[in-house]
Amino acid sequence: MDREILKLLSKFDKINKSAEEILEMSVTELREKIKETGLNPDDTKSKELIESYTKTEIIGKEIYYYDSIKSTNLVGKFIAPSVSHGSVVVSKTQTMGKGRSGKKYESPEGGIWFSIILKPEIPPQKAPILTLATAVAVTRALEKSDIKSEIKWPNDILINDKKVCGVLTESIAKLNELECIIIGVGINSNNDVNEFPPELIENSIALKDVSNKEINNEKEIGLILEEFDKIYKEFVEDNTDEIFDEWRKYSHTIGKMVEIRQPLGKNIVGYAVGINKEGALILEDTNGKLVKILSGECKLLN
Ligand code: BTN
Repeated sequence: MDREILKLLSKFDKINKSAEEILEMSVTELREKIKETGLNPDDTKSKELIESYTKTEIIGKEIYYYDSIKSTNLVGKFIAPSVSHGSVVVSKTQTMGKGRSGKKYESPEGGIWFSIILKPEIPPQKAPILTLATAVAVTRALEKSDIKSEIKWPNDILINDKKVCGVLTESIAKLNELECIIIGVGINSNNDVNEFPPELIENSIALKDVSNKEINNEKEIGLILEEFDKIYKEFVEDNTDEIFDEWRKYSHTIGKMVEIRQPLGKNIVGYAVGINKEGALILEDTNGKLVKILSGECKLLN
C-alpha cells in the first residue's frame, strides 16, 4: 500500500489511528483492523435491491453498500486500486459528506449518496465532461420518474429553482496521468431539508417534496446508473456533442446573467452564452468580451 492510501485510511473515524501509526502496522494487522472496524461493506438487502434495478453493461457491476461512512468519495478513493472500473459505493448516510470548495455536504438518512469509480484512459482535461455527463444522467433518470429538473452549471441539479442534487468529481493522478476518477452524487430524496442548517433550507428541495410520495431510493440509484452507463458509452466513443446538446436542453444557466466566483477570489459577471467542448462556461462579460470559465461557483443574477 502506498502512503496516499494510508493517509486516506487514517481518515476513517472507526480506525482511529494516525497515518504514522498505520505505517507502523503490518499488512496482516491492518487487514484485521479493517475487518474489526466494520469497514467491509454492510451486507444488506438494499445492495441486492439496487443490483436488481441496475440494468447496465459497465457501471455498477460491483456495488459496495454501507450503512454509515464518512464519505462515499473518500471510501471510493481508498478502494479504487483494488476494485473494477465502474464500481459503485453507496451509503445510507455520510458523517462527513464532501461538497465542492471544501464545504461539508449534508447527507442524512433518507437521501441518496453514492460514488462511481472510473478508470478511463483519457487525458485529465477531458474529466470535467464527465461531471456534465453525470448531471445529464441524473436529470434523465429523474425525468423517467416524472420529476422535471434542470442543470445549473457546472454540477447542481435544481427543481423549482432549488438545489436537489450536487455532483463532486475527484481524481487520482500520477505524473499528469489519470489513474481513476471518483464521481460523487448526492441527492435529497426522502430526507427533510427543513432539518438542514438554516442557511441551506431556503434553497434546498428533496425529491419527495415534489413527488408527494416516498421515493424508492434503490430504484432511483438503479435508474441513474443505467442512464450513466449509456452516457458513459457516448463519452468513450467521443460522441460528446450529444452530451453537450442534452446538457444545453436541461440548462438552467444558459441565457441568464450570472456571477462566477472563482477559487482565487476573482468574480466575473456576465451573460451565460453557452458551454464549449471542454465543458467550460462561456460568458459575455460586461465589456462584451467572451470569457471562458473552467471552474467556480455560479450565482444567478436574474
Ligand atoms: C456539491 O457541493 O454540490 C457537490 C456535492 C457532492 C456530494 C456527494 S454525496 C456522495 C459523494 N460523497 C461525498 O462526500 N460527496 C459526494
